[in-house]
Amino acid sequence: MLKKPIYILSIESSCDDTSAAILQNETVLSNVIANQKIHAAYGGVVPELASRAHQQNIVPVAQQAIQQAGIDKQDLSAIAFTRGPGLMGSLLVGTSFAKSMAIALNIPLIAVNHMQAHVLAHFINEDNQEKPKFPFLCLTISGGHTQILKISNYNTFEILGETIDDAVGEAFDKSAKLLGLPYPGGPLIDKHAKLGNKTAFKFTEPKTKNELDFSFSGLKTAILYFLQREHKKDKLFIKENLNDICASIQFTITNILMKKLKLASKITGITEVAIAGGVSANSEIRETLKSFEKTMGWNTYIPKFEYTTDNAAMIGVVGYYKYLNNDFEKENAIATSRLDINS
Ligand code: KG4
Ligand code: ZN
Repeated sequence: MLKKPIYILSIESSCDDTSAAILQNETVLSNVIANQKIHAAYGGVVPELASRAHQQNIVPVAQQAIQQAGIDKQDLSAIAFTRGPGLMGSLLVGTSFAKSMAIALNIPLIAVNHMQAHVLAHFINEDNQEKPKFPFLCLTISGGHTQILKISNYNTFEILGETIDDAVGEAFDKSAKLLGLPYPGGPLIDKHAKLGNKTAFKFTEPKTKNELDFSFSGLKTAILYFLQREHKKDKLFIKENLNDICASIQFTITNILMKKLKLASKITGITEVAIAGGVSANSEIRETLKSFEKTMGWNTYIPKFEYTTDNAAMIGVVGYYKYLNNDFEKENAIATSRLDINS
């Protein structure tokens, strides 16, 4: 007899994207994302505004996900939601919605760790996309995190190195802000960098006590002083050199990340290497990692573009594994703004 498929509605609301997805086992049937444009005017995410926008978006986004998947609410096996880490007000909206819906449909509730989900997005079923083999390394790079992880199975994540100050996404976004680009600046730096010379300007790479840790606050300051110095000499410096500046910043960041990743591979002997998180959408980071297949003999895993930045499909795939383990959440589940990668 054929096994009955499992349908999971997953909800992601940890930061400024409201997203809902339907998965049939590990296959995505729909993945709806409502981006919040309102933060661009403020140069960063405003938590209060993010919560309000989630409140507005969550019902239509979930309805659309169910409709696009072509299933009925009654077909759902469970509801998965992001319990943390993230902005508390934002998380509460998704948590409350997921709880209410699970109670209304009398189906299990599954709590998902957002950072595990970024990594396990690699296990979403996709045509022609290979999945990493355990143990593998994952460079998880987002607006809130920068970590090199060793993943031994679906539940075991070891942090080999992480940032001691800013996340790499912040380095992109803060540099972009200094250049007068709107939030989120990462994708814009990527766009301008394509037209620029990456060796035009040099920025020193920060040092850290633990060789596998990262530090990005120093880089941000170095870029600030550099721009102030050049601006004094020439008021049009940024405007006239925008592409070269973006290319040089991106090149520096890519180099920092890749050097540490190479070192982690050398120390652990692991050559299965993945990237995950919003910053893994960056074209130079993607291309550089891919090139290591040839030059380093690695098997590399680069997420499909739509599963890099925050999305509910990645929450759904973790929900599916938890469903198989009967790892359900009680109805008094609470959101947590800080959450360890193994929790
Ligand atoms: O994973 P994510 O969507 O949200 C968090 O959990 O933080 O990551 C958002 C971050 C932002 O800092 C954004 O600027 C960055 O990912 N980002 C990029 C690119 N696309 C998104 N950074 C560099 N290049 C990109 N193409
Ligand atoms: Zn994220």
